[in-house]
Amino acid sequence: MNAPTTSPIMAALTDEEFQKIAAIASEEAGLSIPDSKRSLVQSRISRRLRHLRLPTCRDYLQLLSDAPSEKRELVSILTTNVSSFYRESHHFEFLRKTIFPSIPTRLNQGDRVRFWSAGCSSGEEPYTLAIELLKAIPEAASSDLLILASDIDPKILERAKTGTYSPSAVDTIAPEDRKKFLTASSDDDEMFSVGDELRNLVRFRELNLHATWPMRHPFDVIMCRNVVIYFDEHRQRELWPRFREMLVPGGRLILGHSERIHPIESSGFTTESVTVYRRT
Ligand SMILES: C[S@@+](CC[C@H](N)C(=O)[O-])C[C@H]1O[C@@H](n2cnc3c(N)ncnc32)[C@H](O)[C@@H]1O
Repeated sequence: MNAPTTSPIMAALTDEEFQKIAAIASEEAGLSIPDSKRSLVQSRISRRLRHLRLPTCRDYLQLLSDAPSEKRELVSILTTNVSSFYRESHHFEFLRKTIFPSIPTRLNQGDRVRFWSAGCSSGEEPYTLAIELLKAIPEAASSDLLILASDIDPKILERAKTGTYSPSAVDTIAPEDRKKFLTASSDDDEMFSVGDELRNLVRFRELNLHATWPMRHPFDVIMCRNVVIYFDEHRQRELWPRFREMLVPGGRLILGHSERIHPIESSGFTTESVTVYRRT
């Protein structure tokens, strides 16, 4: 970001400005921004103002009302994109033991097999899934098996599509898998790029979880990890039946470590493992 050094420091957000920003984030992306995040919001808006060379948050709010496309930028700067390869690795263990064994037979029968990484951020989650699938089911590469990887933030999706990661980011991938599925980046040989075998399994799409979903076919597994934690309870509750509808009978929904389907009793899911839910 090319911030001019002479730009003034933004005045602290007023209550009203903070409420307006939080309301737009909630409307656009379902994000719940509590008062405790105020200084974070302040610093991210301040950076955006410097970039746009706008003097005050009032000018920025005016821009948000004049140019709806800026609302997407706002969502982009307010979302948390932290991710990593093999994050919460017990979920991949679960997939290896419970889900993958039946896939080859299904593929041989001509069934389609679909995974969805909903809120995929910079791509580590779908690419980890692709590594694990190719290791367990080498024929996945030439079968009707795909991973949809979606996110609301077009910028982070561009990074995910690039599929280039620093040495420390790929540290959690076993050396033999790194060697097999990643290559030295063509732009910078210090960096790693995911290889074509992984790329071919993943389809990236921009998608707001609170908008209409264009997918027509159900998924075997939906991973929506460390995403709904940023939504308020009402928005979370709206999602459970929608995820259920997008799963095959017996399909699994996998959430992040601090996320739970609540209330579980009336959700049409049962708990199968740690933050793994099975469609009943
Ligand atoms: C912390 S990352 C999680 C990445 C990955 N699932 C993981 O667990 O490592 C959260 C992602 O959710 C995305 N997100 C936030 N609100 C969203 C929405 N309404 N629709 C779709 N994605 C959203 C953000 O852009 C961000 O990339």
